Amino acid sequence: MKAAILEEFNGKLTIKDIDKPEVAEGKVLVRVKSAGINPVDQKLSEGYMKDNLPHEFPIILGWDLAGVVEECGHGAARFRKGEEVYAYARRPVLKEGTFAEYISIPESYLAKKPINISFEEAGAIPLAGLTAYQCIFDAARLKADETILILGASGGVGTFAVQLAKYHGSKVIAVASESNHQYLKDLGADHCIDYKKENVPQEVKKLEKEGVAVVLDAVGGDTTKMGAECLNKDGRLVSIASQGEGLPEETDFRFVFVQPNARELEHIKELVEAGSLKVHVEKKYDLQDINEAFEQIASGHTKGKVVVSMG
Ligand SMILES: NC(=O)c1ccc[n+]([C@@H]2O[C@H](COP(=O)([O-])OP(=O)(O)OC[C@H]3O[C@@H](n4cnc5c(N)ncnc54)[C@H](OP(=O)(O)O)[C@@H]3O)[C@@H](O)[C@H]2O)c1
Repeated sequence: MKAAILEEFNGKLTIKDIDKPEVAEGKVLVRVKSAGINPVDQKLSEGYMKDNLPHEFPIILGWDLAGVVEECGHGAARFRKGEEVYAYARRPVLKEGTFAEYISIPESYLAKKPINISFEEAGAIPLAGLTAYQCIFDAARLKADETILILGASGGVGTFAVQLAKYHGSKVIAVASESNHQYLKDLGADHCIDYKKENVPQEVKKLEKEGVAVVLDAVGGDTTKMGAECLNKDGRLVSIASQGEGLPEETDFRFVFVQPNARELEHIKELVEAGSLKVHVEKKYDLQDINEAFEQIASGHTKGKVVVSMG
């Protein structure tokens, strides 16, 4: 099979022909049709988290997948050959990822793919969709009558977060570049603020005098601190991009590191099929152009998602 291989932490992937993985007990061999590209993939390729994340070279990166079940190992009975699936495939050791034509993966990671969208769209969902879901529902426990401020709203995670919060009935204030405001309004944002031209806390206080109940920070750095200024007195700040350094002591802060969760992916599938959640794929790359996709994601200004397609 073809796979994008990382030989060392130098940020460069090489396409190689390697052996197809074997399907083992409890595992499912999936023919990968598409895989979302996430900022973490590019960061990992340069050695990010290398001291904390067990890894074995050569590494196939990639944690998102949408594909078709090719073969089921002994005891893997949840899926049948030919079924369309998707998954957030982050394994304990960085070695066998989804930027390849096949992956052998424990069946517990897999959920059925939403039937009404393409493989490219489905492959764009798992990591970013689960992150938004876990921030809003598991960490912040957003209530329908609360307002959420989303920092980094036009990116992969933000795009899902805006829609999930709206689906939940909450009011959404989205922060992004002005050129993305119409995109965010189409997704359901009630108000948009341009972080490049406007003072975000001041604009938030014009809309919500006491501040907002929840801030979801997908940017990090000084933006996280700015998010804390936008909270009301009982507000919760959830970040996926900062560990909360330098925040006022009284801040109710939670860091989220997205976890694989097939049950939540099943719920996301229902939302997609009901039309409550749309996927925006800004650009699709062929596997051999994956380094170009990494350059795009490293820009920090991707609208929605970029994916690689294995054809
Ligand atoms: N902890 C976790 O589990 C977890 C999970 C997923 C992602 N992450 C991290 O979270 C971050 C976002 O991920 P993503 O996939 O959404 O990234 P992405 O798709 O690359 O999105 C980046 C977005 O950030 C916006 N942005 C950049 N600077 C901004 C600023 N100062 N204020 C407001 N918005 C700004 C850009 O908006 P404009 O182009 O409109 O300016 C762009 O749309 C990354 O650092 C990623 O590694 C962590």
